[in-house]
Amino acid sequence: MDRFPKALSALALSLACSLCRPARAAELTTPANEAKIDALIAQMTVAEKVGQLNQLASDTLTGPGRVVSDGDMLIKKGSVGSLFNAVKAPKTNAFQKEAVEDSRLHIPLLFGYDVIHGFTTLFPIPLGLSSSWDPGLVEQTSRFAAEEASAQGVRWTFSPMVDIARDPRWGRITEGAGEDTFLGSAFARAYVRGYQGTRLDDRSSVVACAKHFVGYGAVEGGREYNSTEISERTLRDVYLPPFQAAVDEGAGTLMAAFNAIDGVPSSANHFTLTTVLRDEWKFQGLVGSDWTAIQEIVLHGIADDENVAARKAFMAGVDMDMQSTVYLAQLPSLVASGKVPMERLDEAVRRVLRVKFALGLFDHPYVPVPAGLSVAEKARGLELARRAAEESFVLLENHPVKGTPLLPLKPPAGMKIGLIGPLADDAADMLGSWTGVADSKDVVTLKTSLSKRAALGEFTLTVAGGTDVGGTKDDGFARAVEVAKQSDVVILTLGEGGHSSGEAAARSHIDLPGNQERLLEKIVATGTPVVLVVFSGRPLSLPWASKHVPAVLEAWFPGLQAGPALARTLFGEVSPSARLTVSVPRSVGQIPIYYNHLNTGRPRTDLQVPDTNPTNSYFVTGYIDEKDGPLYPFGYGLGYTSFEYSAVSVDAQILSAAAINSGEAHLTVTATVRNKGPREGTDVAQLYIRMRGTSVARPIRELKGFKRLHLAPGESQKAEFTIGRDELSFWNLDMKYVAEAGTLFVWVAPDSEHGSPARIEIRD
Ligand code: NOJ
Repeated sequence: MDRFPKALSALALSLACSLCRPARAAELTTPANEAKIDALIAQMTVAEKVGQLNQLASDTLTGPGRVVSDGDMLIKKGSVGSLFNAVKAPKTNAFQKEAVEDSRLHIPLLFGYDVIHGFTTLFPIPLGLSSSWDPGLVEQTSRFAAEEASAQGVRWTFSPMVDIARDPRWGRITEGAGEDTFLGSAFARAYVRGYQGTRLDDRSSVVACAKHFVGYGAVEGGREYNSTEISERTLRDVYLPPFQAAVDEGAGTLMAAFNAIDGVPSSANHFTLTTVLRDEWKFQGLVGSDWTAIQEIVLHGIADDENVAARKAFMAGVDMDMQSTVYLAQLPSLVASGKVPMERLDEAVRRVLRVKFALGLFDHPYVPVPAGLSVAEKARGLELARRAAEESFVLLENHPVKGTPLLPLKPPAGMKIGLIGPLADDAADMLGSWTGVADSKDVVTLKTSLSKRAALGEFTLTVAGGTDVGGTKDDGFARAVEVAKQSDVVILTLGEGGHSSGEAAARSHIDLPGNQERLLEKIVATGTPVVLVVFSGRPLSLPWASKHVPAVLEAWFPGLQAGPALARTLFGEVSPSARLTVSVPRSVGQIPIYYNHLNTGRPRTDLQVPDTNPTNSYFVTGYIDEKDGPLYPFGYGLGYTSFEYSAVSVDAQILSAAAINSGEAHLTVTATVRNKGPREGTDVAQLYIRMRGTSVARPIRELKGFKRLHLAPGESQKAEFTIGRDELSFWNLDMKYVAEAGTLFVWVAPDSEHGSPARIEIRD
């Protein structure tokens, strides 16, 4: 029996489709399953109960190591409820055998893994996926990931990360859907639907885990694991709704975050974990801690020892302990002394068993071997990966060169393309962070794709690296400049490394690392038109490029199909349709930066509501050494055609707040969008609102709807939205979630900065 200790010796070593309704929270369990759970709990010893609350990593470590010396025995003793990071069917089956056949009560293990943007088939990073503004797409990518992961026995993904992130220094901005609560909630639902499918006990479904509960995106300075200060109103208005959306959609589990809010570590926060999650939202599923977060309560400073840490976390509402083994060690004595009531222990065990029953693990604990998807299914995954990547690219600049926009490239026979930069042929970095079990050998790089086309005689291709991602030596510059001089157009691939974002990857600078900016300037100075393709896990601040480079495409980290998707986009077989889900700052000093901020009492002149009277003077909010506003705003993105918006029309001028609150009154908001360009394309019509005259100040704009519209040249379509209680309510001065009387402004616009609003009175 050396296998488990061997697996865990890694620990020791390292000491150094939206129409289908999903399984919903209310359906996480059934009376029949509850009866089975009752019967099981009645047979369990305290040690066995506590065992169900213990979660250990095997194989790989995704956090600081901690020795667990007797892993096999722990499973057989019934002291492990969940294992994570075992990712191959023979392995999960073997561990499962120990639980199901060798433990006294035969309770199956629940295998977890960070399936963040794919398992074997890697899709774009979540921030890239969100740029599609296409939750239906994400439902498909997460469904595919569920199919691949579940085939290996992994039935629990630690995804989606639904943290609202307003700080691009924070490396984990890469893992979420950006800065907006409404959009983030739509994506939260889509991930849950995809992972959990229509039934959790379908063997290709995995249970979702909305994380990190809550406010983790607000860590001070963007520094990973840092603390947060969030008012209850902001928590409820901004950070909680995506979690609530995930819970409403039926997410079976949540993960408590690392951050403390107002001095209380999230893993010990009774208000968020119990008052909000259980009492208000009626969540029936399981809450796990993050990696060693329960033990870390001691380091946070609200417990002198692990006994107190265990009690605080457990009584606050964390059911399962990831990697601390603090519950295993401390809960039995806490129960014996009465400091933790047996009912609370049973409740936590019930939640774990509920998820296991819901997944059908008691009936089907093992997965068939050999495991994996068929060749045809894998091909379907690659096709989806390519389409997802294409939908994720945001075209930031596209200026005319010799009278026509530089992109798409239309190479005449014999055109010379120079492919320059460190990321053109870098397979591993295309995966971004959280790479699942993907093999970088399966990545098709941009160089590979362009070389194939060049081999067909479409153009000639010359390649030069120029520098490395973090490079400091300029010795590759001369050759790169030479290539640029000899080319008709340069495709320049710059950006971050795939692991410059993700966990523990905060940056204090958000520009191009190393000497890449200098390489960029040298290539542009050759006078050859440059298409800059930026690879990054966060928005990078590139003010020089925005002014001097004719075409800039933000490609994020596109996943396995990076090359084909980029080539098709650059040559115009597909038009970019993605829009930013994060504001791109001009400089680090502007952070935190987000479009839906409050107005202040001294805004500058660029107020969005026409009839306000701004203080047009020196004494206004802003910086004396930086322009106002982002380099690129939330919602922004270009395509290969252009769109025109009509004035906004509304079907009422006056609404009653009482009627909105009772659900009787709605407002229909319409605008017509016309494709006025030469080719078909997709635009994202965005509905924004602003309320004035309310008991607390409301943001200058808030997204409350969006629609992707695919339009032929010259075609017009109506973008129609209905808004009511859900869109107009907010947490008011009395901390009630209601619509209030005031003036409502509504926009239907192509991004968060443009458009003129219609105005409506909401009366008491
Ligand atoms: C720590 C991360 O914060 C969390 O997101 C992840 O799921 C766990 N490690 C497990 O790898």
